Amino acid sequence: MSEKIYYPNPDFAKDARINSMDQYHALMEEAKSDYEGFWKRYADEKINWYAPYSKVLDESDAPFYKWFTEGKLNVSNQCIDRHLKTRGDQTAILFEGDRGDVEHITYNNLSQRVNRLANLLKEKFGIKKGDRVVLYMPMIPEAAYAMLACARIGAIHSIVFGGFSAEALKDRIVDAEAKLVITADGAYRKGKPYLLKPVVDEALKEGVESVEAVLVVQRNQEEIHWEAGRDHNYNELIGNYSDECEAEMMDSEDPLFLLYTSGSTGKPKGVQHSTAGYILWAQMTMEWVFDLREGDVYWCTADIGWITGHTYIVYGPLAAGTTTVMFEGVVTYPDAGRAWQMVQDHKITQFYTAPTAIRLLHKMGEDEPKKYDLSRIRVLGTVGEPIDPPAWKWYYEVVGNGKASIVDTWWQTETGGHMISPLPGATPIKPGCATFPLPGIMAEVIEQDGTPTPVGEKGFLCITKPWPSMIRTIWGDPERFKKSYFGDCKKEGKPVYFSGDGAMIDEDGYITITGRTDDVINVSGHRIGTAEIESAIKKIDKIAVSAVVGKPHDIKGEGIFAYIVLKDPDHAGEEMIAEINSVLKKEIGAIALCDEVVFVPDVPKTRSGKIMRRILRSIAKGEAITQDTSTLEDPTIVPTIEGIVKG
Ligand code: WTA
Repeated sequence: MSEKIYYPNPDFAKDARINSMDQYHALMEEAKSDYEGFWKRYADEKINWYAPYSKVLDESDAPFYKWFTEGKLNVSNQCIDRHLKTRGDQTAILFEGDRGDVEHITYNNLSQRVNRLANLLKEKFGIKKGDRVVLYMPMIPEAAYAMLACARIGAIHSIVFGGFSAEALKDRIVDAEAKLVITADGAYRKGKPYLLKPVVDEALKEGVESVEAVLVVQRNQEEIHWEAGRDHNYNELIGNYSDECEAEMMDSEDPLFLLYTSGSTGKPKGVQHSTAGYILWAQMTMEWVFDLREGDVYWCTADIGWITGHTYIVYGPLAAGTTTVMFEGVVTYPDAGRAWQMVQDHKITQFYTAPTAIRLLHKMGEDEPKKYDLSRIRVLGTVGEPIDPPAWKWYYEVVGNGKASIVDTWWQTETGGHMISPLPGATPIKPGCATFPLPGIMAEVIEQDGTPTPVGEKGFLCITKPWPSMIRTIWGDPERFKKSYFGDCKKEGKPVYFSGDGAMIDEDGYITITGRTDDVINVSGHRIGTAEIESAIKKIDKIAVSAVVGKPHDIKGEGIFAYIVLKDPDHAGEEMIAEINSVLKKEIGAIALCDEVVFVPDVPKTRSGKIMRRILRSIAKGEAITQDTSTLEDPTIVPTIEGIVKG
């Protein structure tokens, strides 16, 4: 391929933290020649240890790797206290509400508010180290306070994205056996108040035994139901608690949080992250990938309900001592200029978002960025899904004015932080390509037996050495952890972490992500398991079989395409589609609604009854079927379905 290569802007690059490929290669060499020494150097330099660790990496119980064993620290100390002397009056969180209300929360303010809440959790609710606390929160500063307050007292938070339904919330509460739920009455979105608390009420209605209390932040003062004895008002209580709270001494390997994500079966996986390894890599990647400098104002548009919000709105930026912007609203509301207005007003230096948002902003206002002063932006980030060349070019040329570096960051809920990404002051970029593994990360494209996949061919994207911020286990299901991540690929006979993604290496060693190899679809950068969708659809009695696949979508990257086999074909029609979507909304949430539904007499199955999704994916995309269909139970079903889809 002779595509154009984009070099870092020399004006920025000269002062960048990593400012040449030579420096990158030197770091990589250091990591390869002395892996533990490399990580020790950073752990010693970056972490505020209360007590030293005895071992950098313990591989004795692989794949349950342990990092910095016996070290003692606290993540809230790493993110707040240690900054107070030098940056107490600096803005830690710059909040902008949906309606344009702005609040600057300094590191001093943050310390006081987190400590008050930590005391409240301990004293009022008896929350202690190891207890699980579920957060069902809008994008307001109290969400960050709650995360950090949990970290301070050693409670394990599990954030459930505010777009998930009561059923989905309930499943996650039950699986984690949470003792407390923290939520808000609601918040504002697109100029209007909306409610969250009723969803919590619904989730807790029956079958949840562990939850003892619900703490409610009043954000929009909407009328809500208060369950006597269970629900407590944050705004009324918080003033009664001291703004000093000693941080719990946490072990390096104590869990910091759980975050549920989709896998290839119907049940979401509670990805468990650690304390020391997680925060170390969150901070290091924050500094390297966004080339963080004093005075920067950094904005990531993700929601705290996803891993990007955890690592790159709260933990990474605060550990690195920067100013992180938190936005309640939607970047395209009230118009296509909202995001750029905010970049201008808050003097943003790094902007991090998903390709879906870039495509939408592009479509809604191609020239809109030109009306604003975006000249302070040095780094533009993307995450969550592949970025297509037209979106990349617009981001680079119009938003970044050809001067900012674009970092296409590949990583996952399970990796905790960035794995493969350009370094903005060093890496020559090929658009749409995540480029190279970060220093210290041994990401490789291999075959299942560990041999390198030939240049230009699709292989398994694996991380062949453990890294500090890796998933530690699946909450309550260590066997599933082993099977899901260490069951597919081996290198030198040893199981290695397989990401579930396919990738390709080119002749220059650049890595391009080719997408999931499992039955997970990526809708607007959100991972949704087809099995989860199908098991929700199965609840409709009139449906015999459903098979769900992803189909390329102009804005969302992938849309949800469902093949439905009805028990009685007469039920086909708009009403049935509405019923399917209403079940999906109830069981999962609005993010799981189908873009297209087709009614088919049957789906292609092998003789042993396995649905051939690959064929269904090809048909949905309108591709010619190249697979051998002769082994199907009924090969004639393929042209029949093709005919129906083509309409
Ligand atoms: C996909 C989000 C292409 C990938 C941080 C991965 C990407 C899944 C990229 C993880 C990228 C993430 N280019 N695809 N830069 N980044 N993905 O757990 O399929 O919500 O496995 O974490 O998103 O999604 P998750």
